[in-house]
Amino acid sequence: IKRVGVMTSGGDSPGMNAAIRSVVRTCAFHNIECFGIYRGYEGMIDGDFVKMDARSVKGIIDKGGTILKSARSEEFRTKEGRQKAYDQLKKADIDAFVVIGGDGSFTGAMIFNQEFNFPVMGIPGTIDNDIFGTTHTLGFDTALNTVVQVIDKIRDTASSHNRLFFIEVMGRDVGHIALNVGVGAGAEEILIPEEDLGLDRLLDSLRRSKQSGKSSSIVVVAEGDKIGKNVFELKDYVDQNLSEYEVRVSVLGHMQRGGSPSCFDRVLASRMGVKAVESLITGKSNYMVGLKNDIMELTPFDQAVKGKSKINMELLRVSDIMTI
Ligand code: F6P
Repeated sequence: IKRVGVMTSGGDSPGMNAAIRSVVRTCAFHNIECFGIYRGYEGMIDGDFVKMDARSVKGIIDKGGTILKSARSEEFRTKEGRQKAYDQLKKADIDAFVVIGGDGSFTGAMIFNQEFNFPVMGIPGTIDNDIFGTTHTLGFDTALNTVVQVIDKIRDTASSHNRLFFIEVMGRDVGHIALNVGVGAGAEEILIPEEDLGLDRLLDSLRRSKQSGKSSSIVVVAEGDKIGKNVFELKDYVDQNLSEYEVRVSVLGHMQRGGSPSCFDRVLASRMGVKAVESLITGKSNYMVGLKNDIMELTPFDQAVKGKSKINMELLRVSDIMTI
């Protein structure tokens, strides 16, 4: 391996820049040339590359987003698009690449590897933590800290006005963010797609909460929750069925994806970048690097994209006990 490309693909997440920095510097350490690929697979198809050396990634470890930009590419889903991307990589003499992204990005890399036998390595970057083969994806920890801080602030208003807040958090189809921030911010209820609480039990729980002397309530709702109503419909439903509460809704949105990465995400990104490049050097390809029991491990792409990241159900029980 003489020239490695690095890119970010799919939704951005805090820690992506720290991972770019790590890939670039690990390449420099091993005397390998490194090229940044702008806008994920879109930039690969366009040949939008930039040479990066160790100094070119200074001052980015603490920055959210991604200096290489990110995109979701429709063209790369086509055989013609991937052929164009391959031709561009060959033209630039790039002989392997590291993709920092989620399972859609890994599926693309896997197909590309099968078609062109091109060495690829993945680093899981998404706030959702929905990837099999790692206990933490890049950006998850930062997003949890961001959301917990915001819920603490909303709690100030909730308790000053004796209100009930439904707070919708991101996570796509999984409840990792909701479950963790729910416990971390002491939410009275947590609604996640992995567990169907049901409307009746939600009402019972809120009634019990009021009767136990609580003046305010926070219900964290994962955006992918399947209770059958969105947060605004939930508000209307509770308004109609529980007169004792004044209800408000807060949808946190994309602020959850931004901001300076936590120390945990910076360290994780640094470790993942080293592992990804050094695995390519030893001839490995078609894997995702991940964290398991505090050890960097490789998971084949096909397992990473097919496997399910499991919710820690113990947290639901802990939450139930904490909200007695
Ligand atoms: O995957 C990250 C994520 O922020 C999800 O939590 C969310 O469902 C989705 O991306 C939002 O995507 P977009 O930025 O395209 O609206």
